[in-house]
Amino acid sequence: MIIGSISENKDKEKRISITPEISKKYIASGFEVIIENNIGDHLGIDDSDFIKEGCKIEKKEDITKKSDILLQVSLPSKDNFKNFKEKNILIGNFDVNNNKEIIDSIKMKSSIFSLELLPRITRAQSMDILSSQANLAGYKAVIDSFALFKKAIPMMMTAAGTVPASKVLVVGAGVAGLQAIATAKRMGAIVFATDVRLASKEQVESLGGKFLSVEGSENLETEGGYAKEASEDFKKKQEELLAETLKKIDIVICTALIPGKKAPKILNESMINNMQPGSVIFDLAASQGGNAAFTKADEIVENNGVIIVGESTILNKLPVSASNLYAKNLYNFVLNLYDNKNKKININMEDEIISKTLVK
Ligand code: NAI
Repeated sequence: MIIGSISENKDKEKRISITPEISKKYIASGFEVIIENNIGDHLGIDDSDFIKEGCKIEKKEDITKKSDILLQVSLPSKDNFKNFKEKNILIGNFDVNNNKEIIDSIKMKSSIFSLELLPRITRAQSMDILSSQANLAGYKAVIDSFALFKKAIPMMMTAAGTVPASKVLVVGAGVAGLQAIATAKRMGAIVFATDVRLASKEQVESLGGKFLSVEGSENLETEGGYAKEASEDFKKKQEELLAETLKKIDIVICTALIPGKKAPKILNESMINNMQPGSVIFDLAASQGGNAAFTKADEIVENNGVIIVGESTILNKLPVSASNLYAKNLYNFVLNLYDNKNKKININMEDEIISKTLVK
């Protein structure tokens, strides 16, 4: 059984789907591993690091032709599909809703598994690319927003006077938000957070954050653990709560998302106009339209002295850590797909990890 990976479009995607450490594990499990030359050179990972673990370096066309399983981060471009091995398996993070046309054109020939569709169940945690990557995104958002903020973060009592602790608000306390809270707390900030799912209150508080509850609100959580779209009444109450809070906040980390929908607009223009100049809004929801007014994807804009960062490719800023976790997630997914006794892939549709991630 051959596992392969071809280079990503490195201008857009810096992560890789297989690392030398993980290739060693595949090879120890009985797979052959073939990869394209220079697949990880931009990360300081040389071809020789892969070869040392037993991988072979081959040409792109040979990899797509020979691989039983092709591991990628993003969907490869159309011209790579021409010579795909019959009935091969393609695994990655393919943003299925926005890539329907290309996926439809190859799914008769290949089985495509897109791991953003993974169910959020305990057994799937080790394969959960959304969690592993969101966790890093939440961390990096805090680091980068603090770097843009022109004051110190922790309280400091010095002979020359006291520096007050900075105040951070995290909007959306899912995986990225909770890591943002933990990181900001560790650096000495006073942290507030809000979410529409009531379960997140306890999680925020366990990390030392102060949860801002929208008075009299219902729990907007779906059975799958995701957020539902908020009602007009909820939005109004949330707006009142945040408008007052934001006047005192130095840094806002936005992470609120609703699966399959545009990101909810939570920080409106007047709220931002009333923030203190020098404050920073770091909008991780930018690729879905952003949680803040004025957010522009991949741009830094300034409004009344407030800096608004629209970040949509933050994982490209820590691609080594992101690749290590992503490659491990894929490895765990492949092991679950592989029938080790009979040495073959078993697409067991009774396993919801498999049936829900298979693009139909
Ligand atoms: P996400 O990335 O879809 O959304 C981020 C956060 O934004 C969520 O907490 C959501 O409730 C919040 N949000 C949405 N609209 C909002 C609004 N109008 N105002 C304020 N907040 C808003 O969510 P993520 O991080 O992917 O997590 C989704 C759920 O999955 C969580 O409940 C998480 O605990 C759960 N989970 C479960 C796992 C498991 O294995 N059991 C693994 C990972 C996550």
